[in-house]
Amino acid sequence: MAERISLTVNGTARELDVEPRRLLVEAIREDLGLTGTHVGCDTSQCGSCTVMVDGRTAKSCTMLAVQADGSDVLTIEGLASGGKLHPMQESFWEEHGLQCGFCTPGVVLSAVGLLRDDPAPDERAIRAGIEGNLCRCTGYHNIVKAVQSAARKLAAAPADKGR
Ligand code: FES
Ligand code: FES
Repeated sequence: MAERISLTVNGTARELDVEPRRLLVEAIREDLGLTGTHVGCDTSQCGSCTVMVDGRTAKSCTMLAVQADGSDVLTIEGLASGGKLHPMQESFWEEHGLQCGFCTPGVVLSAVGLLRDDPAPDERAIRAGIEGNLCRCTGYHNIVKAVQSAARKLAAAPADKGR
């Protein structure tokens, strides 16, 4: 039997009726139509489904939607603000941190979470911070450069830090 859950998704209050077995990623993609959150595996390894739940990154294929009841969920669609890309998105664009783009929403959100915990990570910390996100295309080099660039931008513009 479906259960009613309440979420704040990208700043908007939403109510959903979900089966207890429904995954958060299914609710995000299929019930809310937010298809920027991807599904790249069925083994919880790829990180394409990464979102933020109450400010912490989470693989949304590893959570039931009912477990997120009452939570604040941020998906890639909610990262830009006022028509302006988040500095992390801007840096991925500028540093060519993506090729096919399939992994990118998850990598970007993991990187945003990393910088919230560690605003000035070295290369090793960046690679460790995104190790839960697999990319088949880039070899990670430009992803690391993008995260380093975003860290510099955020250090120079503290107003963007909470985004
Ligand atoms: S879809 Fe691969 S880890 Fe979630
Ligand atoms: S850019 Fe293609 S999988 Fe990462």
